[in-house]
Amino acid sequence: MPSMLIILLQAGCIESYEPDVGPLQSAPCSNEDTDPDVDVSFRDEIRPLIFDPQPLGCLQCHTPDATTPFGFEVSGLDLSSLRTARRGGANSDGIAIIPGQPCESILYQKVSPGPPFGARMPLGGPPYLSEILLQLIHDWIAEGANDN
Ligand code: HEC
Repeated sequence: MPSMLIILLQAGCIESYEPDVGPLQSAPCSNEDTDPDVDVSFRDEIRPLIFDPQPLGCLQCHTPDATTPFGFEVSGLDLSSLRTARRGGANSDGIAIIPGQPCESILYQKVSPGPPFGARMPLGGPPYLSEILLQLIHDWIAEGANDN
């Protein structure tokens, strides 16, 4: 893993950093499930969002058999299934989805504002994921990133 990334990942663990002068440097991220009473369903809510060619186009770039497999070729991340997504890619080898730790999961970081490297996903956005959809992915990972 490139050392710059390690620094950035470690920086990601800091909840928020308020300098003496200037604006807040990074948005606070907590691994707490924001809605503990409701379970997010992978099958009904996450799969149609991220593991699907529509609406965000993730699969148009992140599968080996896509017409333009740009994301897969550059990053190695294959979003054809939860199993391949868990494997991760060049910068997210084994840490794309860390159950219980959305803030440290590269998948969540890359769809959030201010990703730790490269571009915010989906590449070519906006549109990006709304706050509500970001929260859905956050909570699914916080709940254990289950195949439910
Ligand atoms: C137009 C093509 C394209 C689309 C659409 C796209 N990606 Fe990407 N993705 C890329 C490219 C190229 C990279 C490598 C450069 C970078 O990291 O910015 C990448 C990198 C990533 C990475 C980092 C993987 C690693 O280990 O380096 C993640 C995670 C990711 N994309 C998730 C997504 C998600 C989730 C979506 C849908 C919301 C999405 N991408 C949509 C092209 C795309």
